[in-house]
Amino acid sequence: MRTQVVIVGAGPSGLLLGQLLSRQGIDNVILERKSADYVLSRIRAGVLEPGTVDLLNEAGVGQRLAEEGLPHDGFSLAFEGRLQRVDLKGLTGKQVTVYGQTEVTQDLMDARQAAGTASFYEAEDVQLHDFEGASPRVSFTFEGRRHEIACDFIAGCDGFHGICRASVPAGAIETFERVYPFGWLGLLVDQPPAAHELVYASSPFGFALCSMRSQTRSRYYVQVPLDEKVEAWSDQRFFDELRRRVPEEVAAAVTAGPSLEKSIAPLRSFVAEPLRFGRLFLAGDAGHIVPPTGAKGLNLAASDVHYLFEALREHYAEHSNAGLDAYSGRALARVWKAVRFSWSMTNLLHLFPEASAFDQRIRRAEFDYLTQSQAALTSVAENYVGLPY
Ligand code: FAD
Ligand code: DHB
Repeated sequence: MRTQVVIVGAGPSGLLLGQLLSRQGIDNVILERKSADYVLSRIRAGVLEPGTVDLLNEAGVGQRLAEEGLPHDGFSLAFEGRLQRVDLKGLTGKQVTVYGQTEVTQDLMDARQAAGTASFYEAEDVQLHDFEGASPRVSFTFEGRRHEIACDFIAGCDGFHGICRASVPAGAIETFERVYPFGWLGLLVDQPPAAHELVYASSPFGFALCSMRSQTRSRYYVQVPLDEKVEAWSDQRFFDELRRRVPEEVAAAVTAGPSLEKSIAPLRSFVAEPLRFGRLFLAGDAGHIVPPTGAKGLNLAASDVHYLFEALREHYAEHSNAGLDAYSGRALARVWKAVRFSWSMTNLLHLFPEASAFDQRIRRAEFDYLTQSQAALTSVAENYVGLPY
């Protein structure tokens, strides 16, 4: 078998890249380790930057997003019971869109299926060969048989635990990492959201986030210790803890109900450099991870895909490798700014087990500054809506 681009991973980055390439007439095959149902069952991101929405439109999957996505003009930060709204629209002229990662993935899967483009779900033991040379290949087991695809390029869109980054020789890659001593316990419930906009809350009991998927479906998170078990959290315990951590008026509006999903995600900052190794390119979580506090992970996956797609388009249409050569530098420049923003939001809003009284006063001073300075709020707002591509 032969194709132009083998894409490893059918998460949002792999599917979006595949869709953009296909529309440009560039042949591609996706290899995904899990089943389509499994990929769709993972409840993750919920907030799309306008740049991500533009890219989804460019990929031809913007229709349901335009109908069902919730445009948000702002969000709130709460600190020790005090609320500060961040007026995204007023401060930046831009909005974000609340639309679940599951829906983005579904729309991209539907478009790929309608176009009849090749995807292998439940592809086992994917292995990369000769990506440092001119003729890379990817082999995998599907329905008990070993297959091999020859290609021009490999796109590593296989997430943090994927095979692509792991296939790079240790001496060719440098990694930067911070692991936070807590995770987020998330709960999905079919009840109206507690507030019209998202509320990110810091309290003496830890962080909490009130988010949503629609007018009738809410998504909530609470900070928990790293070794916490989901089984230890009944729905009742979750809602009690959530209400304890958000301002009174928000707590009063939280409507409990049986959880549709409950899971714990650890928090980590991680960047691999570079993002290109010969004919292998890493995009999305395969190359970097941010803690979810800034709502940046999915959006960074989209900006990587934008740079990579433009580079591949240029290669095939204009016989120029300038974009491919610039890919890693361009993508990383945007990645590091989002890593910084996500890190600073995480520091501001979470309770760190080792924090001293000094650290706590610094956090309070930072929140006070945000409430008193238009410049400080504008900085948060412009990062939240996404820095330019
Ligand atoms: P993934 O979604 O991880 O997809 C990678 C795919 O590759 C997977 O389907 C995997 O099965 C497959 N794969 C792995 N290994 C192999 C292999 N060896 N062979 C073949 N296939 C393989 N981001 C935001 O922008 N906004 C948010 O609000 C936000 N909230 C979040 C909340 C939570 C609780 C979590 C956990 C994450 C959140 N994120 C958010 C981050 C966002 O979900 C990720 O950044 C995003 O999923 C990255 O997409 P991806 O396609 O690069 O990777
Ligand atoms: C959601 C997740 C986030 O990490 C975030 O910052 C905002 C919203 C969500 O799942 O709705």
